[in-house]
Amino acid sequence: MMTKTMRMMKISEPLLRRGSIEDIEEITRIENSAFGSHAYDYPSLRYMLEIANSVTVVAVLENKIVGYASVYFRKNSKISHLESIAVDPDFQGRRIGKVLLEEVEKISVEMKCTLIILETFERNIAARKLYKNSGYANELLVPDYYHTPYDGSKNAIRLSKSLQVK
Ligand SMILES: CC(C)(COP(=O)(O)OP(=O)(O)OC[C@H]1O[C@@H](n2cnc3c(N)ncnc32)[C@H](O)[C@@H]1OP(=O)(O)O)[C@@H](O)C(=O)NCCC(=O)NCCS
Repeated sequence: MMTKTMRMMKISEPLLRRGSIEDIEEITRIENSAFGSHAYDYPSLRYMLEIANSVTVVAVLENKIVGYASVYFRKNSKISHLESIAVDPDFQGRRIGKVLLEEVEKISVEMKCTLIILETFERNIAARKLYKNSGYANELLVPDYYHTPYDGSKNAIRLSKSLQVK
């Protein structure tokens, strides 16, 4: 239970920096703890960090990675794609997801993108709230978007947000 003293303690802001293949162990840990059986496996994360046309941002608190977000770009496209975002469950609810999202939007603008899109599991209440509060709209149901060997297919919601290129 949160005490009055805890409430008065300043929660430090995470530092944001670009992630690299050097961070794969920490990102794998966060991915597994945040997504469980739906986590990206090691080769997929390696692809994300080493091969894909993407930028990964990590949030660091006291020298520990507590969250990450990865945004993909396509050649000759002004649309960026939020591929993944996850926060260590011990650090959720502290606005880390929100600042990671803002950072990938900023990077998308720097890359001259005018729209960012993403998909989320239709029953992912926390993620949908984060996206709604951050201005994502134009909900589109994508049937059977997620496939897992254990749970079968699940629907996704696709959302987008227009970006103001300066
Ligand atoms: C979704 C996720 C990234 C959010 O990160 P977070 O750091 O916990 O979220 P924040 O503290 O930045 O909250 C941002 C907003 O989302 C809302 N939110 C976050 N968690 C919530 C929850 N469990 N229930 C309801 N709303 C929630 C907050 O109310 C907040 O709204 P506000 O800006 O009006 O205050 C995090 O819960 C997570 O890693 N989940 C598991 C992985 C996942 O589902 N990723 C998304 C895949 S599409």
